[in-house]
Amino acid sequence: MKASSYWYLANFWIKTALFKKKDPIIGSIIITDRCNLRCKHCSVNNITEIMYPYTQIKKDMQTLYDLGVRILFLYGGEPFLWKDGDLTVRDLVVVAKKMGFMIVTVVTNGTFPIILPEADLILVSLDGDKERHNAIRGNTYDTIMANVKNANAKNICLYMAINKINKDAVREVCRITNETENVKAVSFNFHTPYPDTKELLLSVEEKRAVCEQISQMKDEGFPIFNLKSAFPYLINNSFPTPCHQSLIIENGKISVCGRCIDEPGLCEACGYFFAAEYTLLFKGNLKITLEALKTYSKYI
Ligand SMILES: C[S@@+](CC[C@H](N)C(=O)[O-])C[C@H]1O[C@@H](n2cnc3c(N)ncnc32)[C@H](O)[C@@H]1O
Ligand code: SF4
Ligand code: SF4
Repeated sequence: MKASSYWYLANFWIKTALFKKKDPIIGSIIITDRCNLRCKHCSVNNITEIMYPYTQIKKDMQTLYDLGVRILFLYGGEPFLWKDGDLTVRDLVVVAKKMGFMIVTVVTNGTFPIILPEADLILVSLDGDKERHNAIRGNTYDTIMANVKNANAKNICLYMAINKINKDAVREVCRITNETENVKAVSFNFHTPYPDTKELLLSVEEKRAVCEQISQMKDEGFPIFNLKSAFPYLINNSFPTPCHQSLIIENGKISVCGRCIDEPGLCEACGYFFAAEYTLLFKGNLKITLEALKTYSKYI
């Protein structure tokens, strides 16, 4: 990231934390909910199966940019399925960078070749070792690992949603992160219990045990993107929600924090680490802020 971008983000933090502003800085665009997988824990795939046209997505990008968003996520469904004529998700990354977004990230299931040299960060979902990942995501582990190794980018971050099926595979995913070419870091979330996947939610005790393990591995030097200081808030779901600094847009409809905001009662059980980390960061929590500085400067 450029020095001018660090300066911009530092200024944004000062305005938000000290003057209690609620302006956004992070935005996600759902470019399609179509997906080639039907993972056991996911409730947001193949509902409308609409591929939004390029003109709509560009308009959504501009809307977010005009609202102040500078960190953009392209999200699905599966972003690599998106097409409009000859345009692919790579063209969306290029246009977002041209528009002025400082960090453009694509979140993918990794089952397609990863050719995204213009993206600043690529989050590839990996939900455990081969056995547990495949139990959740179908027989995709080998394809994903091959695509990661063959990617023409070194800025891949693995992304794991921890649930009842894979909670004992956290150490293994950290090991894979360390040993796999092109992978820079790993980022975790806890399962967020939509009504049809409630049975995958971890108990408070299970969350505590997982957090202890992640903390230990971070101390051992594993490249983990999450902030340990946010763990107590995540375990007890005691962080303030929603996160006003994050917006999500789909076909012109903006939601604050996540699309999950429309699900009654879901925020009280939220497992998204970003929601805890960013609300605390932008409320000026000093411990979180110092850890964020140290952690993010290593990987972005
Ligand atoms: C919805 S997917 C979209 C991008 C892409 N298809 C993928 O799987 O990475 C984005 C991320 O959300 C995670 N996810 C899906 N449902 C979840 C849930 N209920 N709780 C926590 N994370 C979830 C997925 O594991 C994935 O890492
Ligand atoms: S690949 Fe992503 S969008 Fe598709 S079902 Fe799995 S988690 Fe959901
Ligand atoms: S706090 Fe945000 S990310 Fe978490 S469930 Fe609510 S809207 Fe979704």
